[in-house]
Amino acid sequence: MGQLDGKVAFVTGAARGQGRNHAIRFAREGASIIALDVCGPVSDYNTYDSATPADLDETVRLVETEGGKIIARQADVRDGAQVKAVVDEGVAQFGRLDIVVANAGICNWNRFWEMPDEQWETLIDVNLTGTWKTLKAVTPAMIDAGNGGSIIVVSSVAGIKALPGQANYAASKFGLVGLTQVAAKELGEYKIRVNSIHPYGVKTPMGTDPGSLKMLEKHPHYMASLATILTEKPLAETDDITEAVMWLAGDGSRTVTGSQVALDMGNTKV
Ligand SMILES: NC(=O)c1ccc[n+]([C@@H]2O[C@H](COP(=O)([O-])OP(=O)(O)OC[C@H]3O[C@@H](n4cnc5c(N)ncnc54)[C@H](O)[C@@H]3O)[C@@H](O)[C@H]2O)c1
Repeated sequence: MGQLDGKVAFVTGAARGQGRNHAIRFAREGASIIALDVCGPVSDYNTYDSATPADLDETVRLVETEGGKIIARQADVRDGAQVKAVVDEGVAQFGRLDIVVANAGICNWNRFWEMPDEQWETLIDVNLTGTWKTLKAVTPAMIDAGNGGSIIVVSSVAGIKALPGQANYAASKFGLVGLTQVAAKELGEYKIRVNSIHPYGVKTPMGTDPGSLKMLEKHPHYMASLATILTEKPLAETDDITEAVMWLAGDGSRTVTGSQVALDMGNTKV
């Protein structure tokens, strides 16, 4: 018996990193998976490698190894029609939608007045508008299914506490708090809970981005904003984040909606 037997979960940005891990762990607990990823370059300003179609194929393989069913498609969260097509296909196949992890995102660095318009606009389009398009695509299907559910929006410590060198990223992740709280208020009557999670660094291609080190070498005093209370192993494993996602996905968190769950090694408190 899995904790999520018979449930269906949709994960964006599932080709690798946190999204892949959530998909695998959901499948292990009995859920069927709908997944999407852009599987390619998104912004010229990213300083870490892009995910590939082979990465998404690997997610499919790993989910199936857990005995899970999965529909995985290459799609861009900036394109609402593409997102809706994947959701519709998944719901037609699996019959319902219970859990959503709006996880797709990018990160890049610059001081705000030196940031080209395109660097700002592309990141806001993906992280903030793309998450809104994701929630817009899934909500009618969840309401129609009538089973309630849980939407988990992936923000960041930068959505609670401003980090220098990240005006675009912080603005997008603070924006997700507003979206999360509005969505929670509008979806409560349908028994759909909406919460955001706020990780500090996580061991993924984004979390180990060499661009962040360059920024800190140039402006060493920015390091103060990255201090943590828990100092032994400040970078989280993807499983650490999935633990919180599993809790928010399940009935154990049935009292929690509109909340910001800090998975932050204490960073937002120092
Ligand atoms: N890694 C960290 O340190 C960290 C910390 C806090 C928050 N986050 C957030 O966690 C989430 C997952 O990041 P990750 O650490 O797994 O990084 P990652 O780069 O490994 O994974 C992100 C995935 O999102 C996909 N993606 C990007 N733009 C997309 C788009 N337009 N449409 C569809 N898919 C798209 C990428 O292709 C990639 O597979 C992001 O929202 C990120 O901002 C990460």
